[in-house]
Amino acid sequence: MQKQGKDYIVFPLDFASVKEAKEYVKLLDGNVGMFKIGLELFIDQGPSVVQMVKKESRAKIFLDLKLHDISATVLRAMGRVAALGVDLVTVHCSSSKNMLERAVQGGQGKTGVLGVTLLTDNDADIVKASGFKGEFVKDPQLLVMHRAKMAYDAGCKGVVCSGQEVQQIKKRFGDSFLAVTPGIRPAWTFLENDDQKRVTTPGQAIALGSDLIVIGRPIRDADDPGKAAQAVIKEIEAALNPL
Ligand code: C5P
Repeated sequence: MQKQGKDYIVFPLDFASVKEAKEYVKLLDGNVGMFKIGLELFIDQGPSVVQMVKKESRAKIFLDLKLHDISATVLRAMGRVAALGVDLVTVHCSSSKNMLERAVQGGQGKTGVLGVTLLTDNDADIVKASGFKGEFVKDPQLLVMHRAKMAYDAGCKGVVCSGQEVQQIKKRFGDSFLAVTPGIRPAWTFLENDDQKRVTTPGQAIALGSDLIVIGRPIRDADDPGKAAQAVIKEIEAALNPL
């Protein structure tokens, strides 16, 4: 089936309670392609939150666990993730290629692995403070590309990256290697004290080649979240079919 505008949208269930998460799943079902379950909700609720999303919606599920451990442990953990029947999971690229390979192996073709290249709150100063020298400190995007290559070589389904890196990633690793982009801010949104710095609009991210955009607060905090999601869909469709 051809990918529709809504299929590009990943809505993070960043809520402290399963009650709120469920309300939003019901509200947005049919208007987003995927729900993302992050650490807050998963630590609190465990696998039952995955079952809740499956029961309430037809959307896919992205478990944002950002795994990082010795390869043998990641392999075993990924076996449990695959048994949950989720579509995507995140694993840090900052360890070894072997760890990423074991993650892919543990996913058994049921759960795709997305590599986290460099967290977007990590800038050159943080890269330096964590022990890197030379070219990676001068240009952290080189580190992003280096880690994206590790993920690609290990058989990951794609990477999480900022909008600014999407074009380079698609050009180097091809269309089928997913670029998943957070930090999405529609032009119509205004959030007080917004912590996202390197932002792109939904239209820009799609035009640059993003396969999935993670968009939370602009939808969650809108007066009418359903309407906000529909406005994002319109923008995505316009970017997919430029005049
Ligand atoms: O759109 P909003 O900023 O509310 O989205 C926040 C979500 O995006 C959170 O679930 C967060 O984990 C995720 N995210 C992010 N920046 C990254 C990776 C993921 O904000 N680099």
